[in-house]
Amino acid sequence: MTATKSAPLISPEALEALSRPPLEASTLPPECYWSPQLYEAEAEQIFRKEWLCVGRVEDVPEPGDFFTASIVGEPVVVVRDGDGEIRAHLNVCRHRGCQLVEGAGSVKSFRCPYHGWMYGLDGTLRGTPDFRETRNFDKADYPLHAVRTEIWEGFVMVNLDPDATPYAPRVSETTRWHSDKYGLADFVTTHRWDYDLACNWKIYVENAMEEYHVPWVHAETFQPVTPMKGWIEFPDISEQPWILMVGQFPGFTLSDSGDALLPVTPTMADCPPEFDGMPIWLSYPSFAVLPMLDCMLYYLMHPTGPERMALSIFLCVPPEAAAAYKDGVEGPLKAGVEEYARNIPPFVAEDNKIAEMQQVGIRSHRATAGRFSKHEGIMWRFDRWVAEKAYGGAPLNGNGAHANGAGRNGAA
Ligand code: FES
Ligand SMILES: [Fe+2]
Repeated sequence: MTATKSAPLISPEALEALSRPPLEASTLPPECYWSPQLYEAEAEQIFRKEWLCVGRVEDVPEPGDFFTASIVGEPVVVVRDGDGEIRAHLNVCRHRGCQLVEGAGSVKSFRCPYHGWMYGLDGTLRGTPDFRETRNFDKADYPLHAVRTEIWEGFVMVNLDPDATPYAPRVSETTRWHSDKYGLADFVTTHRWDYDLACNWKIYVENAMEEYHVPWVHAETFQPVTPMKGWIEFPDISEQPWILMVGQFPGFTLSDSGDALLPVTPTMADCPPEFDGMPIWLSYPSFAVLPMLDCMLYYLMHPTGPERMALSIFLCVPPEAAAAYKDGVEGPLKAGVEEYARNIPPFVAEDNKIAEMQQVGIRSHRATAGRFSKHEGIMWRFDRWVAEKAYGGAPLNGNGAHANGAGRNGAA
């Protein structure tokens, strides 16, 4: 099911209300958070067309290492091939469609568990037991379906659309916002938390990109150290589908004391003062990165249904700290990583709880579209982007700069 310009999937009134400047606009109407029809439109127009992060290069360090992912029900396997290149394939046997592998692991080749067809790491079909009698069959015609893959700053990005334009140029402007200074490519993942949440995926993305909730939801965790008034939003920073907010807390990290316990990224030392702070990037639709002085969190917020999502959060630390942690070397590095990891689940639980509560309320038969505060300019832009991509109707300019954008509103 696809949106057409002549038949928008949400009412013209809702689109018009969303098209206004942020402080005059209304939010997406409630059905956008539960309608199976709108969900299918998002799956088709967004999740089967956009670049999505599925993990990091260090998740597949050696040839044959693989992990699996599901993108709106599409099974994908990411593998490092014999030449050391990271590739992705559909995790679907070409014989009769069985899923090839589950979870993560290491293989020399992919052997289908059903009838034993065998594929190389590069996806070529190598073995088809007892198939000699089958006529007009050429193995070369049945490789695994390739999935577009790109590596950006150590992140494995995939795209189900074979014709998608490359990812890196879309985010090249992030270098102006010192993604390079944080040395994102060098961090190594040590921890992962997975949650199956009873909420629409947009609820979680919106929550991740607004600070309005900090004094209420994070009264004891974040508000004392990263108060709401310390955030600056940049809803119109980019022509590309990524967006940024910056917390004016340049020394922020995840320790109990607030001090960095791990080696600070060396290039952070010469950051110009106007860029001091802790950025949160959202790469549309569902990939957020929170780099800090000596560690990084990243969020994957993938829908699994109209009212269900898979949230995965990863802690990445400098390589020497990751090595100390993984090798069990007792000392300040391992202790530091453990302290950071301990401090993450409490605030995640706060966001998870509020997201599921919002889902319950937005389901009310009297629920209506809401309004945006000056702290929700990024959400405003993100919602317009979703509406424009998936729901059809007149362009909302959701993917470009805005003369009426909320601008640097968080510090006001
Ligand atoms: S489905 Fe894979 S070998 Fe038959
Ligand atoms: Fe939050």
